[in-house]
Amino acid sequence: MGATSPRDVALDPSWVTADPTPLAPDHAQRIAELEALDPALADLYRRGAELLAGAPDAAALHERQVVLLGRERGIVTRGLAELPTLPVDARKTRGRGLNLVKRWLGEIEAARRLLLERAAEAQEAMDVTLPGRRPWIGRRHVLGVVKDELLDLFHGLGYSVYESPEVERDEYNFTKLTFPPDHPARDAHDTYFVSDDVVLRTHTSPGWVRAMEERKPPLRLVFPGRVYRAEQVDASHMDQFHQIDGLFVDRNVSMADLKATLNTFARAIYGAATRTRLIPVYFPFVEPGCQMDVECSICGGTGRVAGEAGPRRCAVCKGTGWIELLGAGMVHTEVFRAVGYDPEEVTGFAFGMGLERIAMMRYGIPEIRMFLENDLRFLRQF
Ligand code: DAH
Repeated sequence: MGATSPRDVALDPSWVTADPTPLAPDHAQRIAELEALDPALADLYRRGAELLAGAPDAAALHERQVVLLGRERGIVTRGLAELPTLPVDARKTRGRGLNLVKRWLGEIEAARRLLLERAAEAQEAMDVTLPGRRPWIGRRHVLGVVKDELLDLFHGLGYSVYESPEVERDEYNFTKLTFPPDHPARDAHDTYFVSDDVVLRTHTSPGWVRAMEERKPPLRLVFPGRVYRAEQVDASHMDQFHQIDGLFVDRNVSMADLKATLNTFARAIYGAATRTRLIPVYFPFVEPGCQMDVECSICGGTGRVAGEAGPRRCAVCKGTGWIELLGAGMVHTEVFRAVGYDPEEVTGFAFGMGLERIAMMRYGIPEIRMFLENDLRFLRQF
């Protein structure tokens, strides 16, 4: 039988085999027919058929097909090439047998290939009955949400938005807002200087100066934006954060108007029953200047919260019952003069608040750094 035996060629013993009957229903009859002609051929057919039927994928099938039926070095091809060396009788039987093996293995190979192709198609096919996959949609940053809410509120009070540059002239950031030359905020420790007279703005108040230089009174504007300070970063300080300033200039604007506006604002964000207080505070660009506090929402203004061992100091307001919300005041006459307004004609108030502080209070966010870390687990909560 020589080279036509499947045992003496490269049939890898690790190759998976399978019953070929599903691919060739008359498999058993074929074996019987070959058995009668030549048991070795029956053996070749049986082994070959099992190997083709067991090919796990198209590449494996091709590899096995080449070993068995390959035109150059396939087992069957070589068997056929040997025929002329055999005696006439043996040549006839062997020839018939080999041709049967060749045809039948060819059929099984084709059937297996079809099956593998169908399976591959089924895998790629789309199941239109599956529920759709929701595309991932981003969302607004929590600071953007808070900012929009505040701007909306002021819009309702008749304010429009004015944007001013983040990289600002010293003149606008400090001088025209009448910061004294030795004011600590001008110090390199608090301010990022771009050059001698250009800084990253340390607050959004310079926007008023620009707006007043450009426009005639009356003005009712809000100034949202990012501000920068060369701060030591900790849980409540960052070297960049966001503010919104507001400015109202007209004839006969009084401190009472300021108070009413700020109360409206505080109650809109913290609830209608929220108590507020104004305390005098110095800012160079307002006179008088004040700070507005709101009642601490964590301890309800008592400064104490329930602890395991009885009441303890409220950590949020540090036991005072009050939270500082913003700075405000009546626009300084010197600021009006610096922009060419006549302080005998107009008066006005201004206020400025930090967005991060408002968001932290509102949502109980403990760390100012979280706003800029871009951790989705944080951002997705809002
Ligand atoms: N610009 C001040 C700051 O960043 C805050 C401020 C205080 C703004 C009083 C105002 C104001 O408009 O009237 O510290």
